[in-house]
Amino acid sequence: MPLLEARKLTKRFGGVIAVNELDFAIERGEIVGLIGPNGAGKTTLFNVLSGFLSPTRGKVLFDGLDITGWKPHRIAGKGLVRTFQQNLLIPEMTVLQNITLACHLSSRVNLLGVLLNTRSTRNNEKASLQDANELLGLLELGEVSGELAKNLPHGHQRMLGIGVALAARPRLLMLDEPATGLNAIEMSRQMAIIRQVRDRGTTVLLVEHHMQAVMNTCERILVLDFGRKIAEGTPNEVATNERVIEAYLGAEYAAKRKEPDGQVR
Ligand SMILES: Nc1ncnc2c1ncn2[C@@H]1O[C@H](COP(=O)(O)OP(=O)(O)O)[C@@H](O)[C@H]1O
Ligand SMILES: [Mg+2]
Repeated sequence: MPLLEARKLTKRFGGVIAVNELDFAIERGEIVGLIGPNGAGKTTLFNVLSGFLSPTRGKVLFDGLDITGWKPHRIAGKGLVRTFQQNLLIPEMTVLQNITLACHLSSRVNLLGVLLNTRSTRNNEKASLQDANELLGLLELGEVSGELAKNLPHGHQRMLGIGVALAARPRLLMLDEPATGLNAIEMSRQMAIIRQVRDRGTTVLLVEHHMQAVMNTCERILVLDFGRKIAEGTPNEVATNERVIEAYLGAEYAAKRKEPDGQVR
C-alpha cells in the first residue's frame, strides 16, 4: 500500500481546471519531485492533498485511509505536513523558540497542563527542547538559534520554515518551492539537508522550479502541465521526455530539436 495515493483528483476554479483527473502514488521512503511550468497546478495539488482546499472530484488516500475533504490540522495529525511558498514564522521569536513552539504544539500538551505547570508538562517541555536542538543541528541552524526569526538571512528563514514543518514529525513532508530566493550554494546545501531528512525516514514530495536541484535531489519525478500528469520517471527519463520539453519550452522549440542538424534556431 503506498503512503499517499491520489485517484482521479480534480480541482476546478470556475472555468479553470487546475488539477485534472490526476492519478499518482508515493511509496514510503521515496523522495519525489513535482515539476511543471508556472500555473501547472502544483500548489493547488498541495492545497488539495493537505486539506487547505477540497477537491471537486476524486480521492486522496494517506496510508490507506481516505482523507478526502478532511481539515488540514486533522491531516497534519496523521503525518501529512506541508510548507508554504511563503515563510510562516513568528518574526518576534528566536529560531529556537519558533522550533520549540512547533515541537510543543505537535506533542499535544494540553493548555491547562502548561498553565498549571504540571510535572508531565515540564517533562514534555524538556523533551520538546531536546527535539528542537536536535532539529536545529540537522538544519545547520545551531549557531543562529538565539537570533530573532525576523533578523535571519533569507536562506536561514527558509530552513527554519522546513524545521517548523519537521517539528510536527511528519511521515510525508511536502515542500513548496523551498529554494525560492536562495543562491546556488545555499540551494545545494538545502537540497543536501532535504535528502538527509529523507534518509532519516521521512518521505518527501518536493515542488521546485530549479530543475537542476530537483534532478539532483529526487529519485522520481512527476511532471504536471495544465493540471494533468504528462510524464513520470527518473530524472533522466523526464529530462529527455519530448512532452516535458514541449511543456517547458514550447512546441516550436521541441519541433526544431528534431531538425536533422539538431540546431535550435
Ligand atoms: N484560488 C484560486 N482561484 C482561482 N484560480 C486559481 C486559484 N489558485 C490557482 N488558480 C489557478 O489554477 C491554476 C494552477 O495554479 P497553481 O496551482 O498556483 O500552479 P503552480 O503552483 O503550478 O504554478 C492557474 O491557472 C491559477 O491561475
Ligand atoms: Mg506554485
